[in-house]
Amino acid sequence: MNKICNYIVLFCSLSGVFGSEPRYSSRFEYDEQMLEKMIRMEIDYEKWEKRIDEQVNKMVQTMESLESFVENKVIQVQEETENAIRNYESRFNASLGALRDTDKEQATALPDVLFRARGVVDHTLVVNQTMVFSEVMYNIGDGYDSASGIFRTPVNGTYLFNVHLCQYKGHSIFYAIVANGVTVSSGLSYENSGYVCISGEVVIKLNENDTVYVKSLHDDVQLLRTALSSLYSYGIKAQTFSGVLIR
Ligand SMILES: *[C@@H]1O[C@H](CO)[C@@H](O)[C@H](O)[C@H]1NC(C)=O
Ligand SMILES: *[C@@H]1O[C@H](CO)[C@@H](O)[C@H](O)[C@H]1NC(C)=O
Ligand SMILES: *[C@@H]1O[C@H](CO)[C@@H](O)[C@H](O)[C@H]1NC(C)=O
Ligand SMILES: *[C@@H]1O[C@H](CO)[C@@H](O)[C@H](O)[C@H]1NC(C)=O
Repeated sequence: MNKICNYIVLFCSLSGVFGSEPRYSSRFEYDEQMLEKMIRMEIDYEKWEKRIDEQVNKMVQTMESLESFVENKVIQVQEETENAIRNYESRFNASLGALRDTDKEQATALPDVLFRARGVVDHTLVVNQTMVFSEVMYNIGDGYDSASGIFRTPVNGTYLFNVHLCQYKGHSIFYAIVANGVTVSSGLSYENSGYVCISGEVVIKLNENDTVYVKSLHDDVQLLRTALSSLYSYGIKAQTFSGVLIR
């Protein structure tokens, strides 16, 4: 309403200025056309105002929807990240649990296998003769047979064997550790004038029921027979054969 009043004021003042304009046949015609123009301008103005309002509304709506889109996106990314972390954590937990189970399994699956025997039945040996260590100190897993001198593996695994032999003064030792009929370690002490002790060992992967023993590789192998003094009963302690399942 205000705008229309303004136009009317403008119209009245203009009609004063252009009142004598010769293009118009009458003052009335002039006034009429001016009024018409002004009404058209007013209508145009209102149209423009409406369009601008519409555009501004659209922009506001766009911005609002953009804002909520970004907000939703942020929430979505947050949720996805949290889910991913949870997923990862539960997978990690599961792996850790499996690892612990495997550890337990292995700990329970690996039995104690350990033997040690000393003292030999025959101190003089010929080639290929098995050394029979007769005094069993321990035989966990029951793999060693003190009658034959043969150790039979109770389970698959990696084993460590050790033999320790002392030679009779001036004689020789030629020995071999034999696994499944094959020499896997050997050593000697040849015509040594003193009392020499030698030892040998082997780490070997074996299957269940494989056999391991120590044999002489030569005739006239002579092992220490008696104690050298009352302090050391070498005769029996010198000759030992032992084995252990290590994994
Ligand atoms: C993973 O294990 C930890 C510790 O036991 C526990 O606090 C957590 O809730 C577990 N996570 C999942 C996803 O299972
Ligand atoms: C000793 O054993 C090896 C291998 O088994 C064999 O080749 C060799 O003929 C044997 N020696 C004697 C004298 O029996
Ligand atoms: C022992 O090893 C043999 C040969 O590798 C295999 O066939 C067998 O299944 C194993 N036994 C056990 C109890 O693992
Ligand atoms: C090992 O020997 C024992 C006793 O003779 C037997 O019961 C077992 O089946 C044997 N195992 C294998 C894998 O030959």
